Amino acid sequence: MSLLKVAVLGNPILRQKTPEMKKSELLRESVQRFIDDLIETMREYDGVGLAATQVHQPLRIAVVEVQANPRYPQAPAVPLTVLVNPVLTPIGSERARDWEGCLSVPDMRGVVPRWTQIHVEAMDRKGNPLSFDASGFFARAVQHETDHLDGIVYLERMEDMRTLTYMREYARYWRDKETPDQGAALG
Ligand code: NI
Repeated sequence: MSLLKVAVLGNPILRQKTPEMKKSELLRESVQRFIDDLIETMREYDGVGLAATQVHQPLRIAVVEVQANPRYPQAPAVPLTVLVNPVLTPIGSERARDWEGCLSVPDMRGVVPRWTQIHVEAMDRKGNPLSFDASGFFARAVQHETDHLDGIVYLERMEDMRTLTYMREYARYWRDKETPDQGAALG
């Protein structure tokens, strides 16, 4: 396995809308190897998600994982999930605002509204159908990563650009010390 280089804002790959993947393409050995590298890269950079476009591949694949962190016992753990061709449908109309960060927008945080609950249809890495509901932080991470596959970064989802904050100022003025730093690690 190998670590992949993460593209940052300004790189045109981040604006590319990825085409739907065929199962035969997904099952190629090179693509399966790429998925392993995507997972390894997400973990290396402490992301809770990573989309293929963020590592320069215009493939409709994203990974999400939240490992239990003893420092943040309230942070809900999410098992490793590989999403191919994810299609999201909001459940209900409730949205929640919370801080997000992105490995492709280094050193910044901003407040982003997201659907609180979503239904997800996708394929897993073997091409089997995946169908599940997600809520809260997991739902947020899935929406953030799926946006990447459509060439969208969280900045475009912000309602109030005045919340855009450098990490140092975020830690100084905005981070609630009692709750997990949920924005810290989104991919
Ligand atoms: Ni991101």
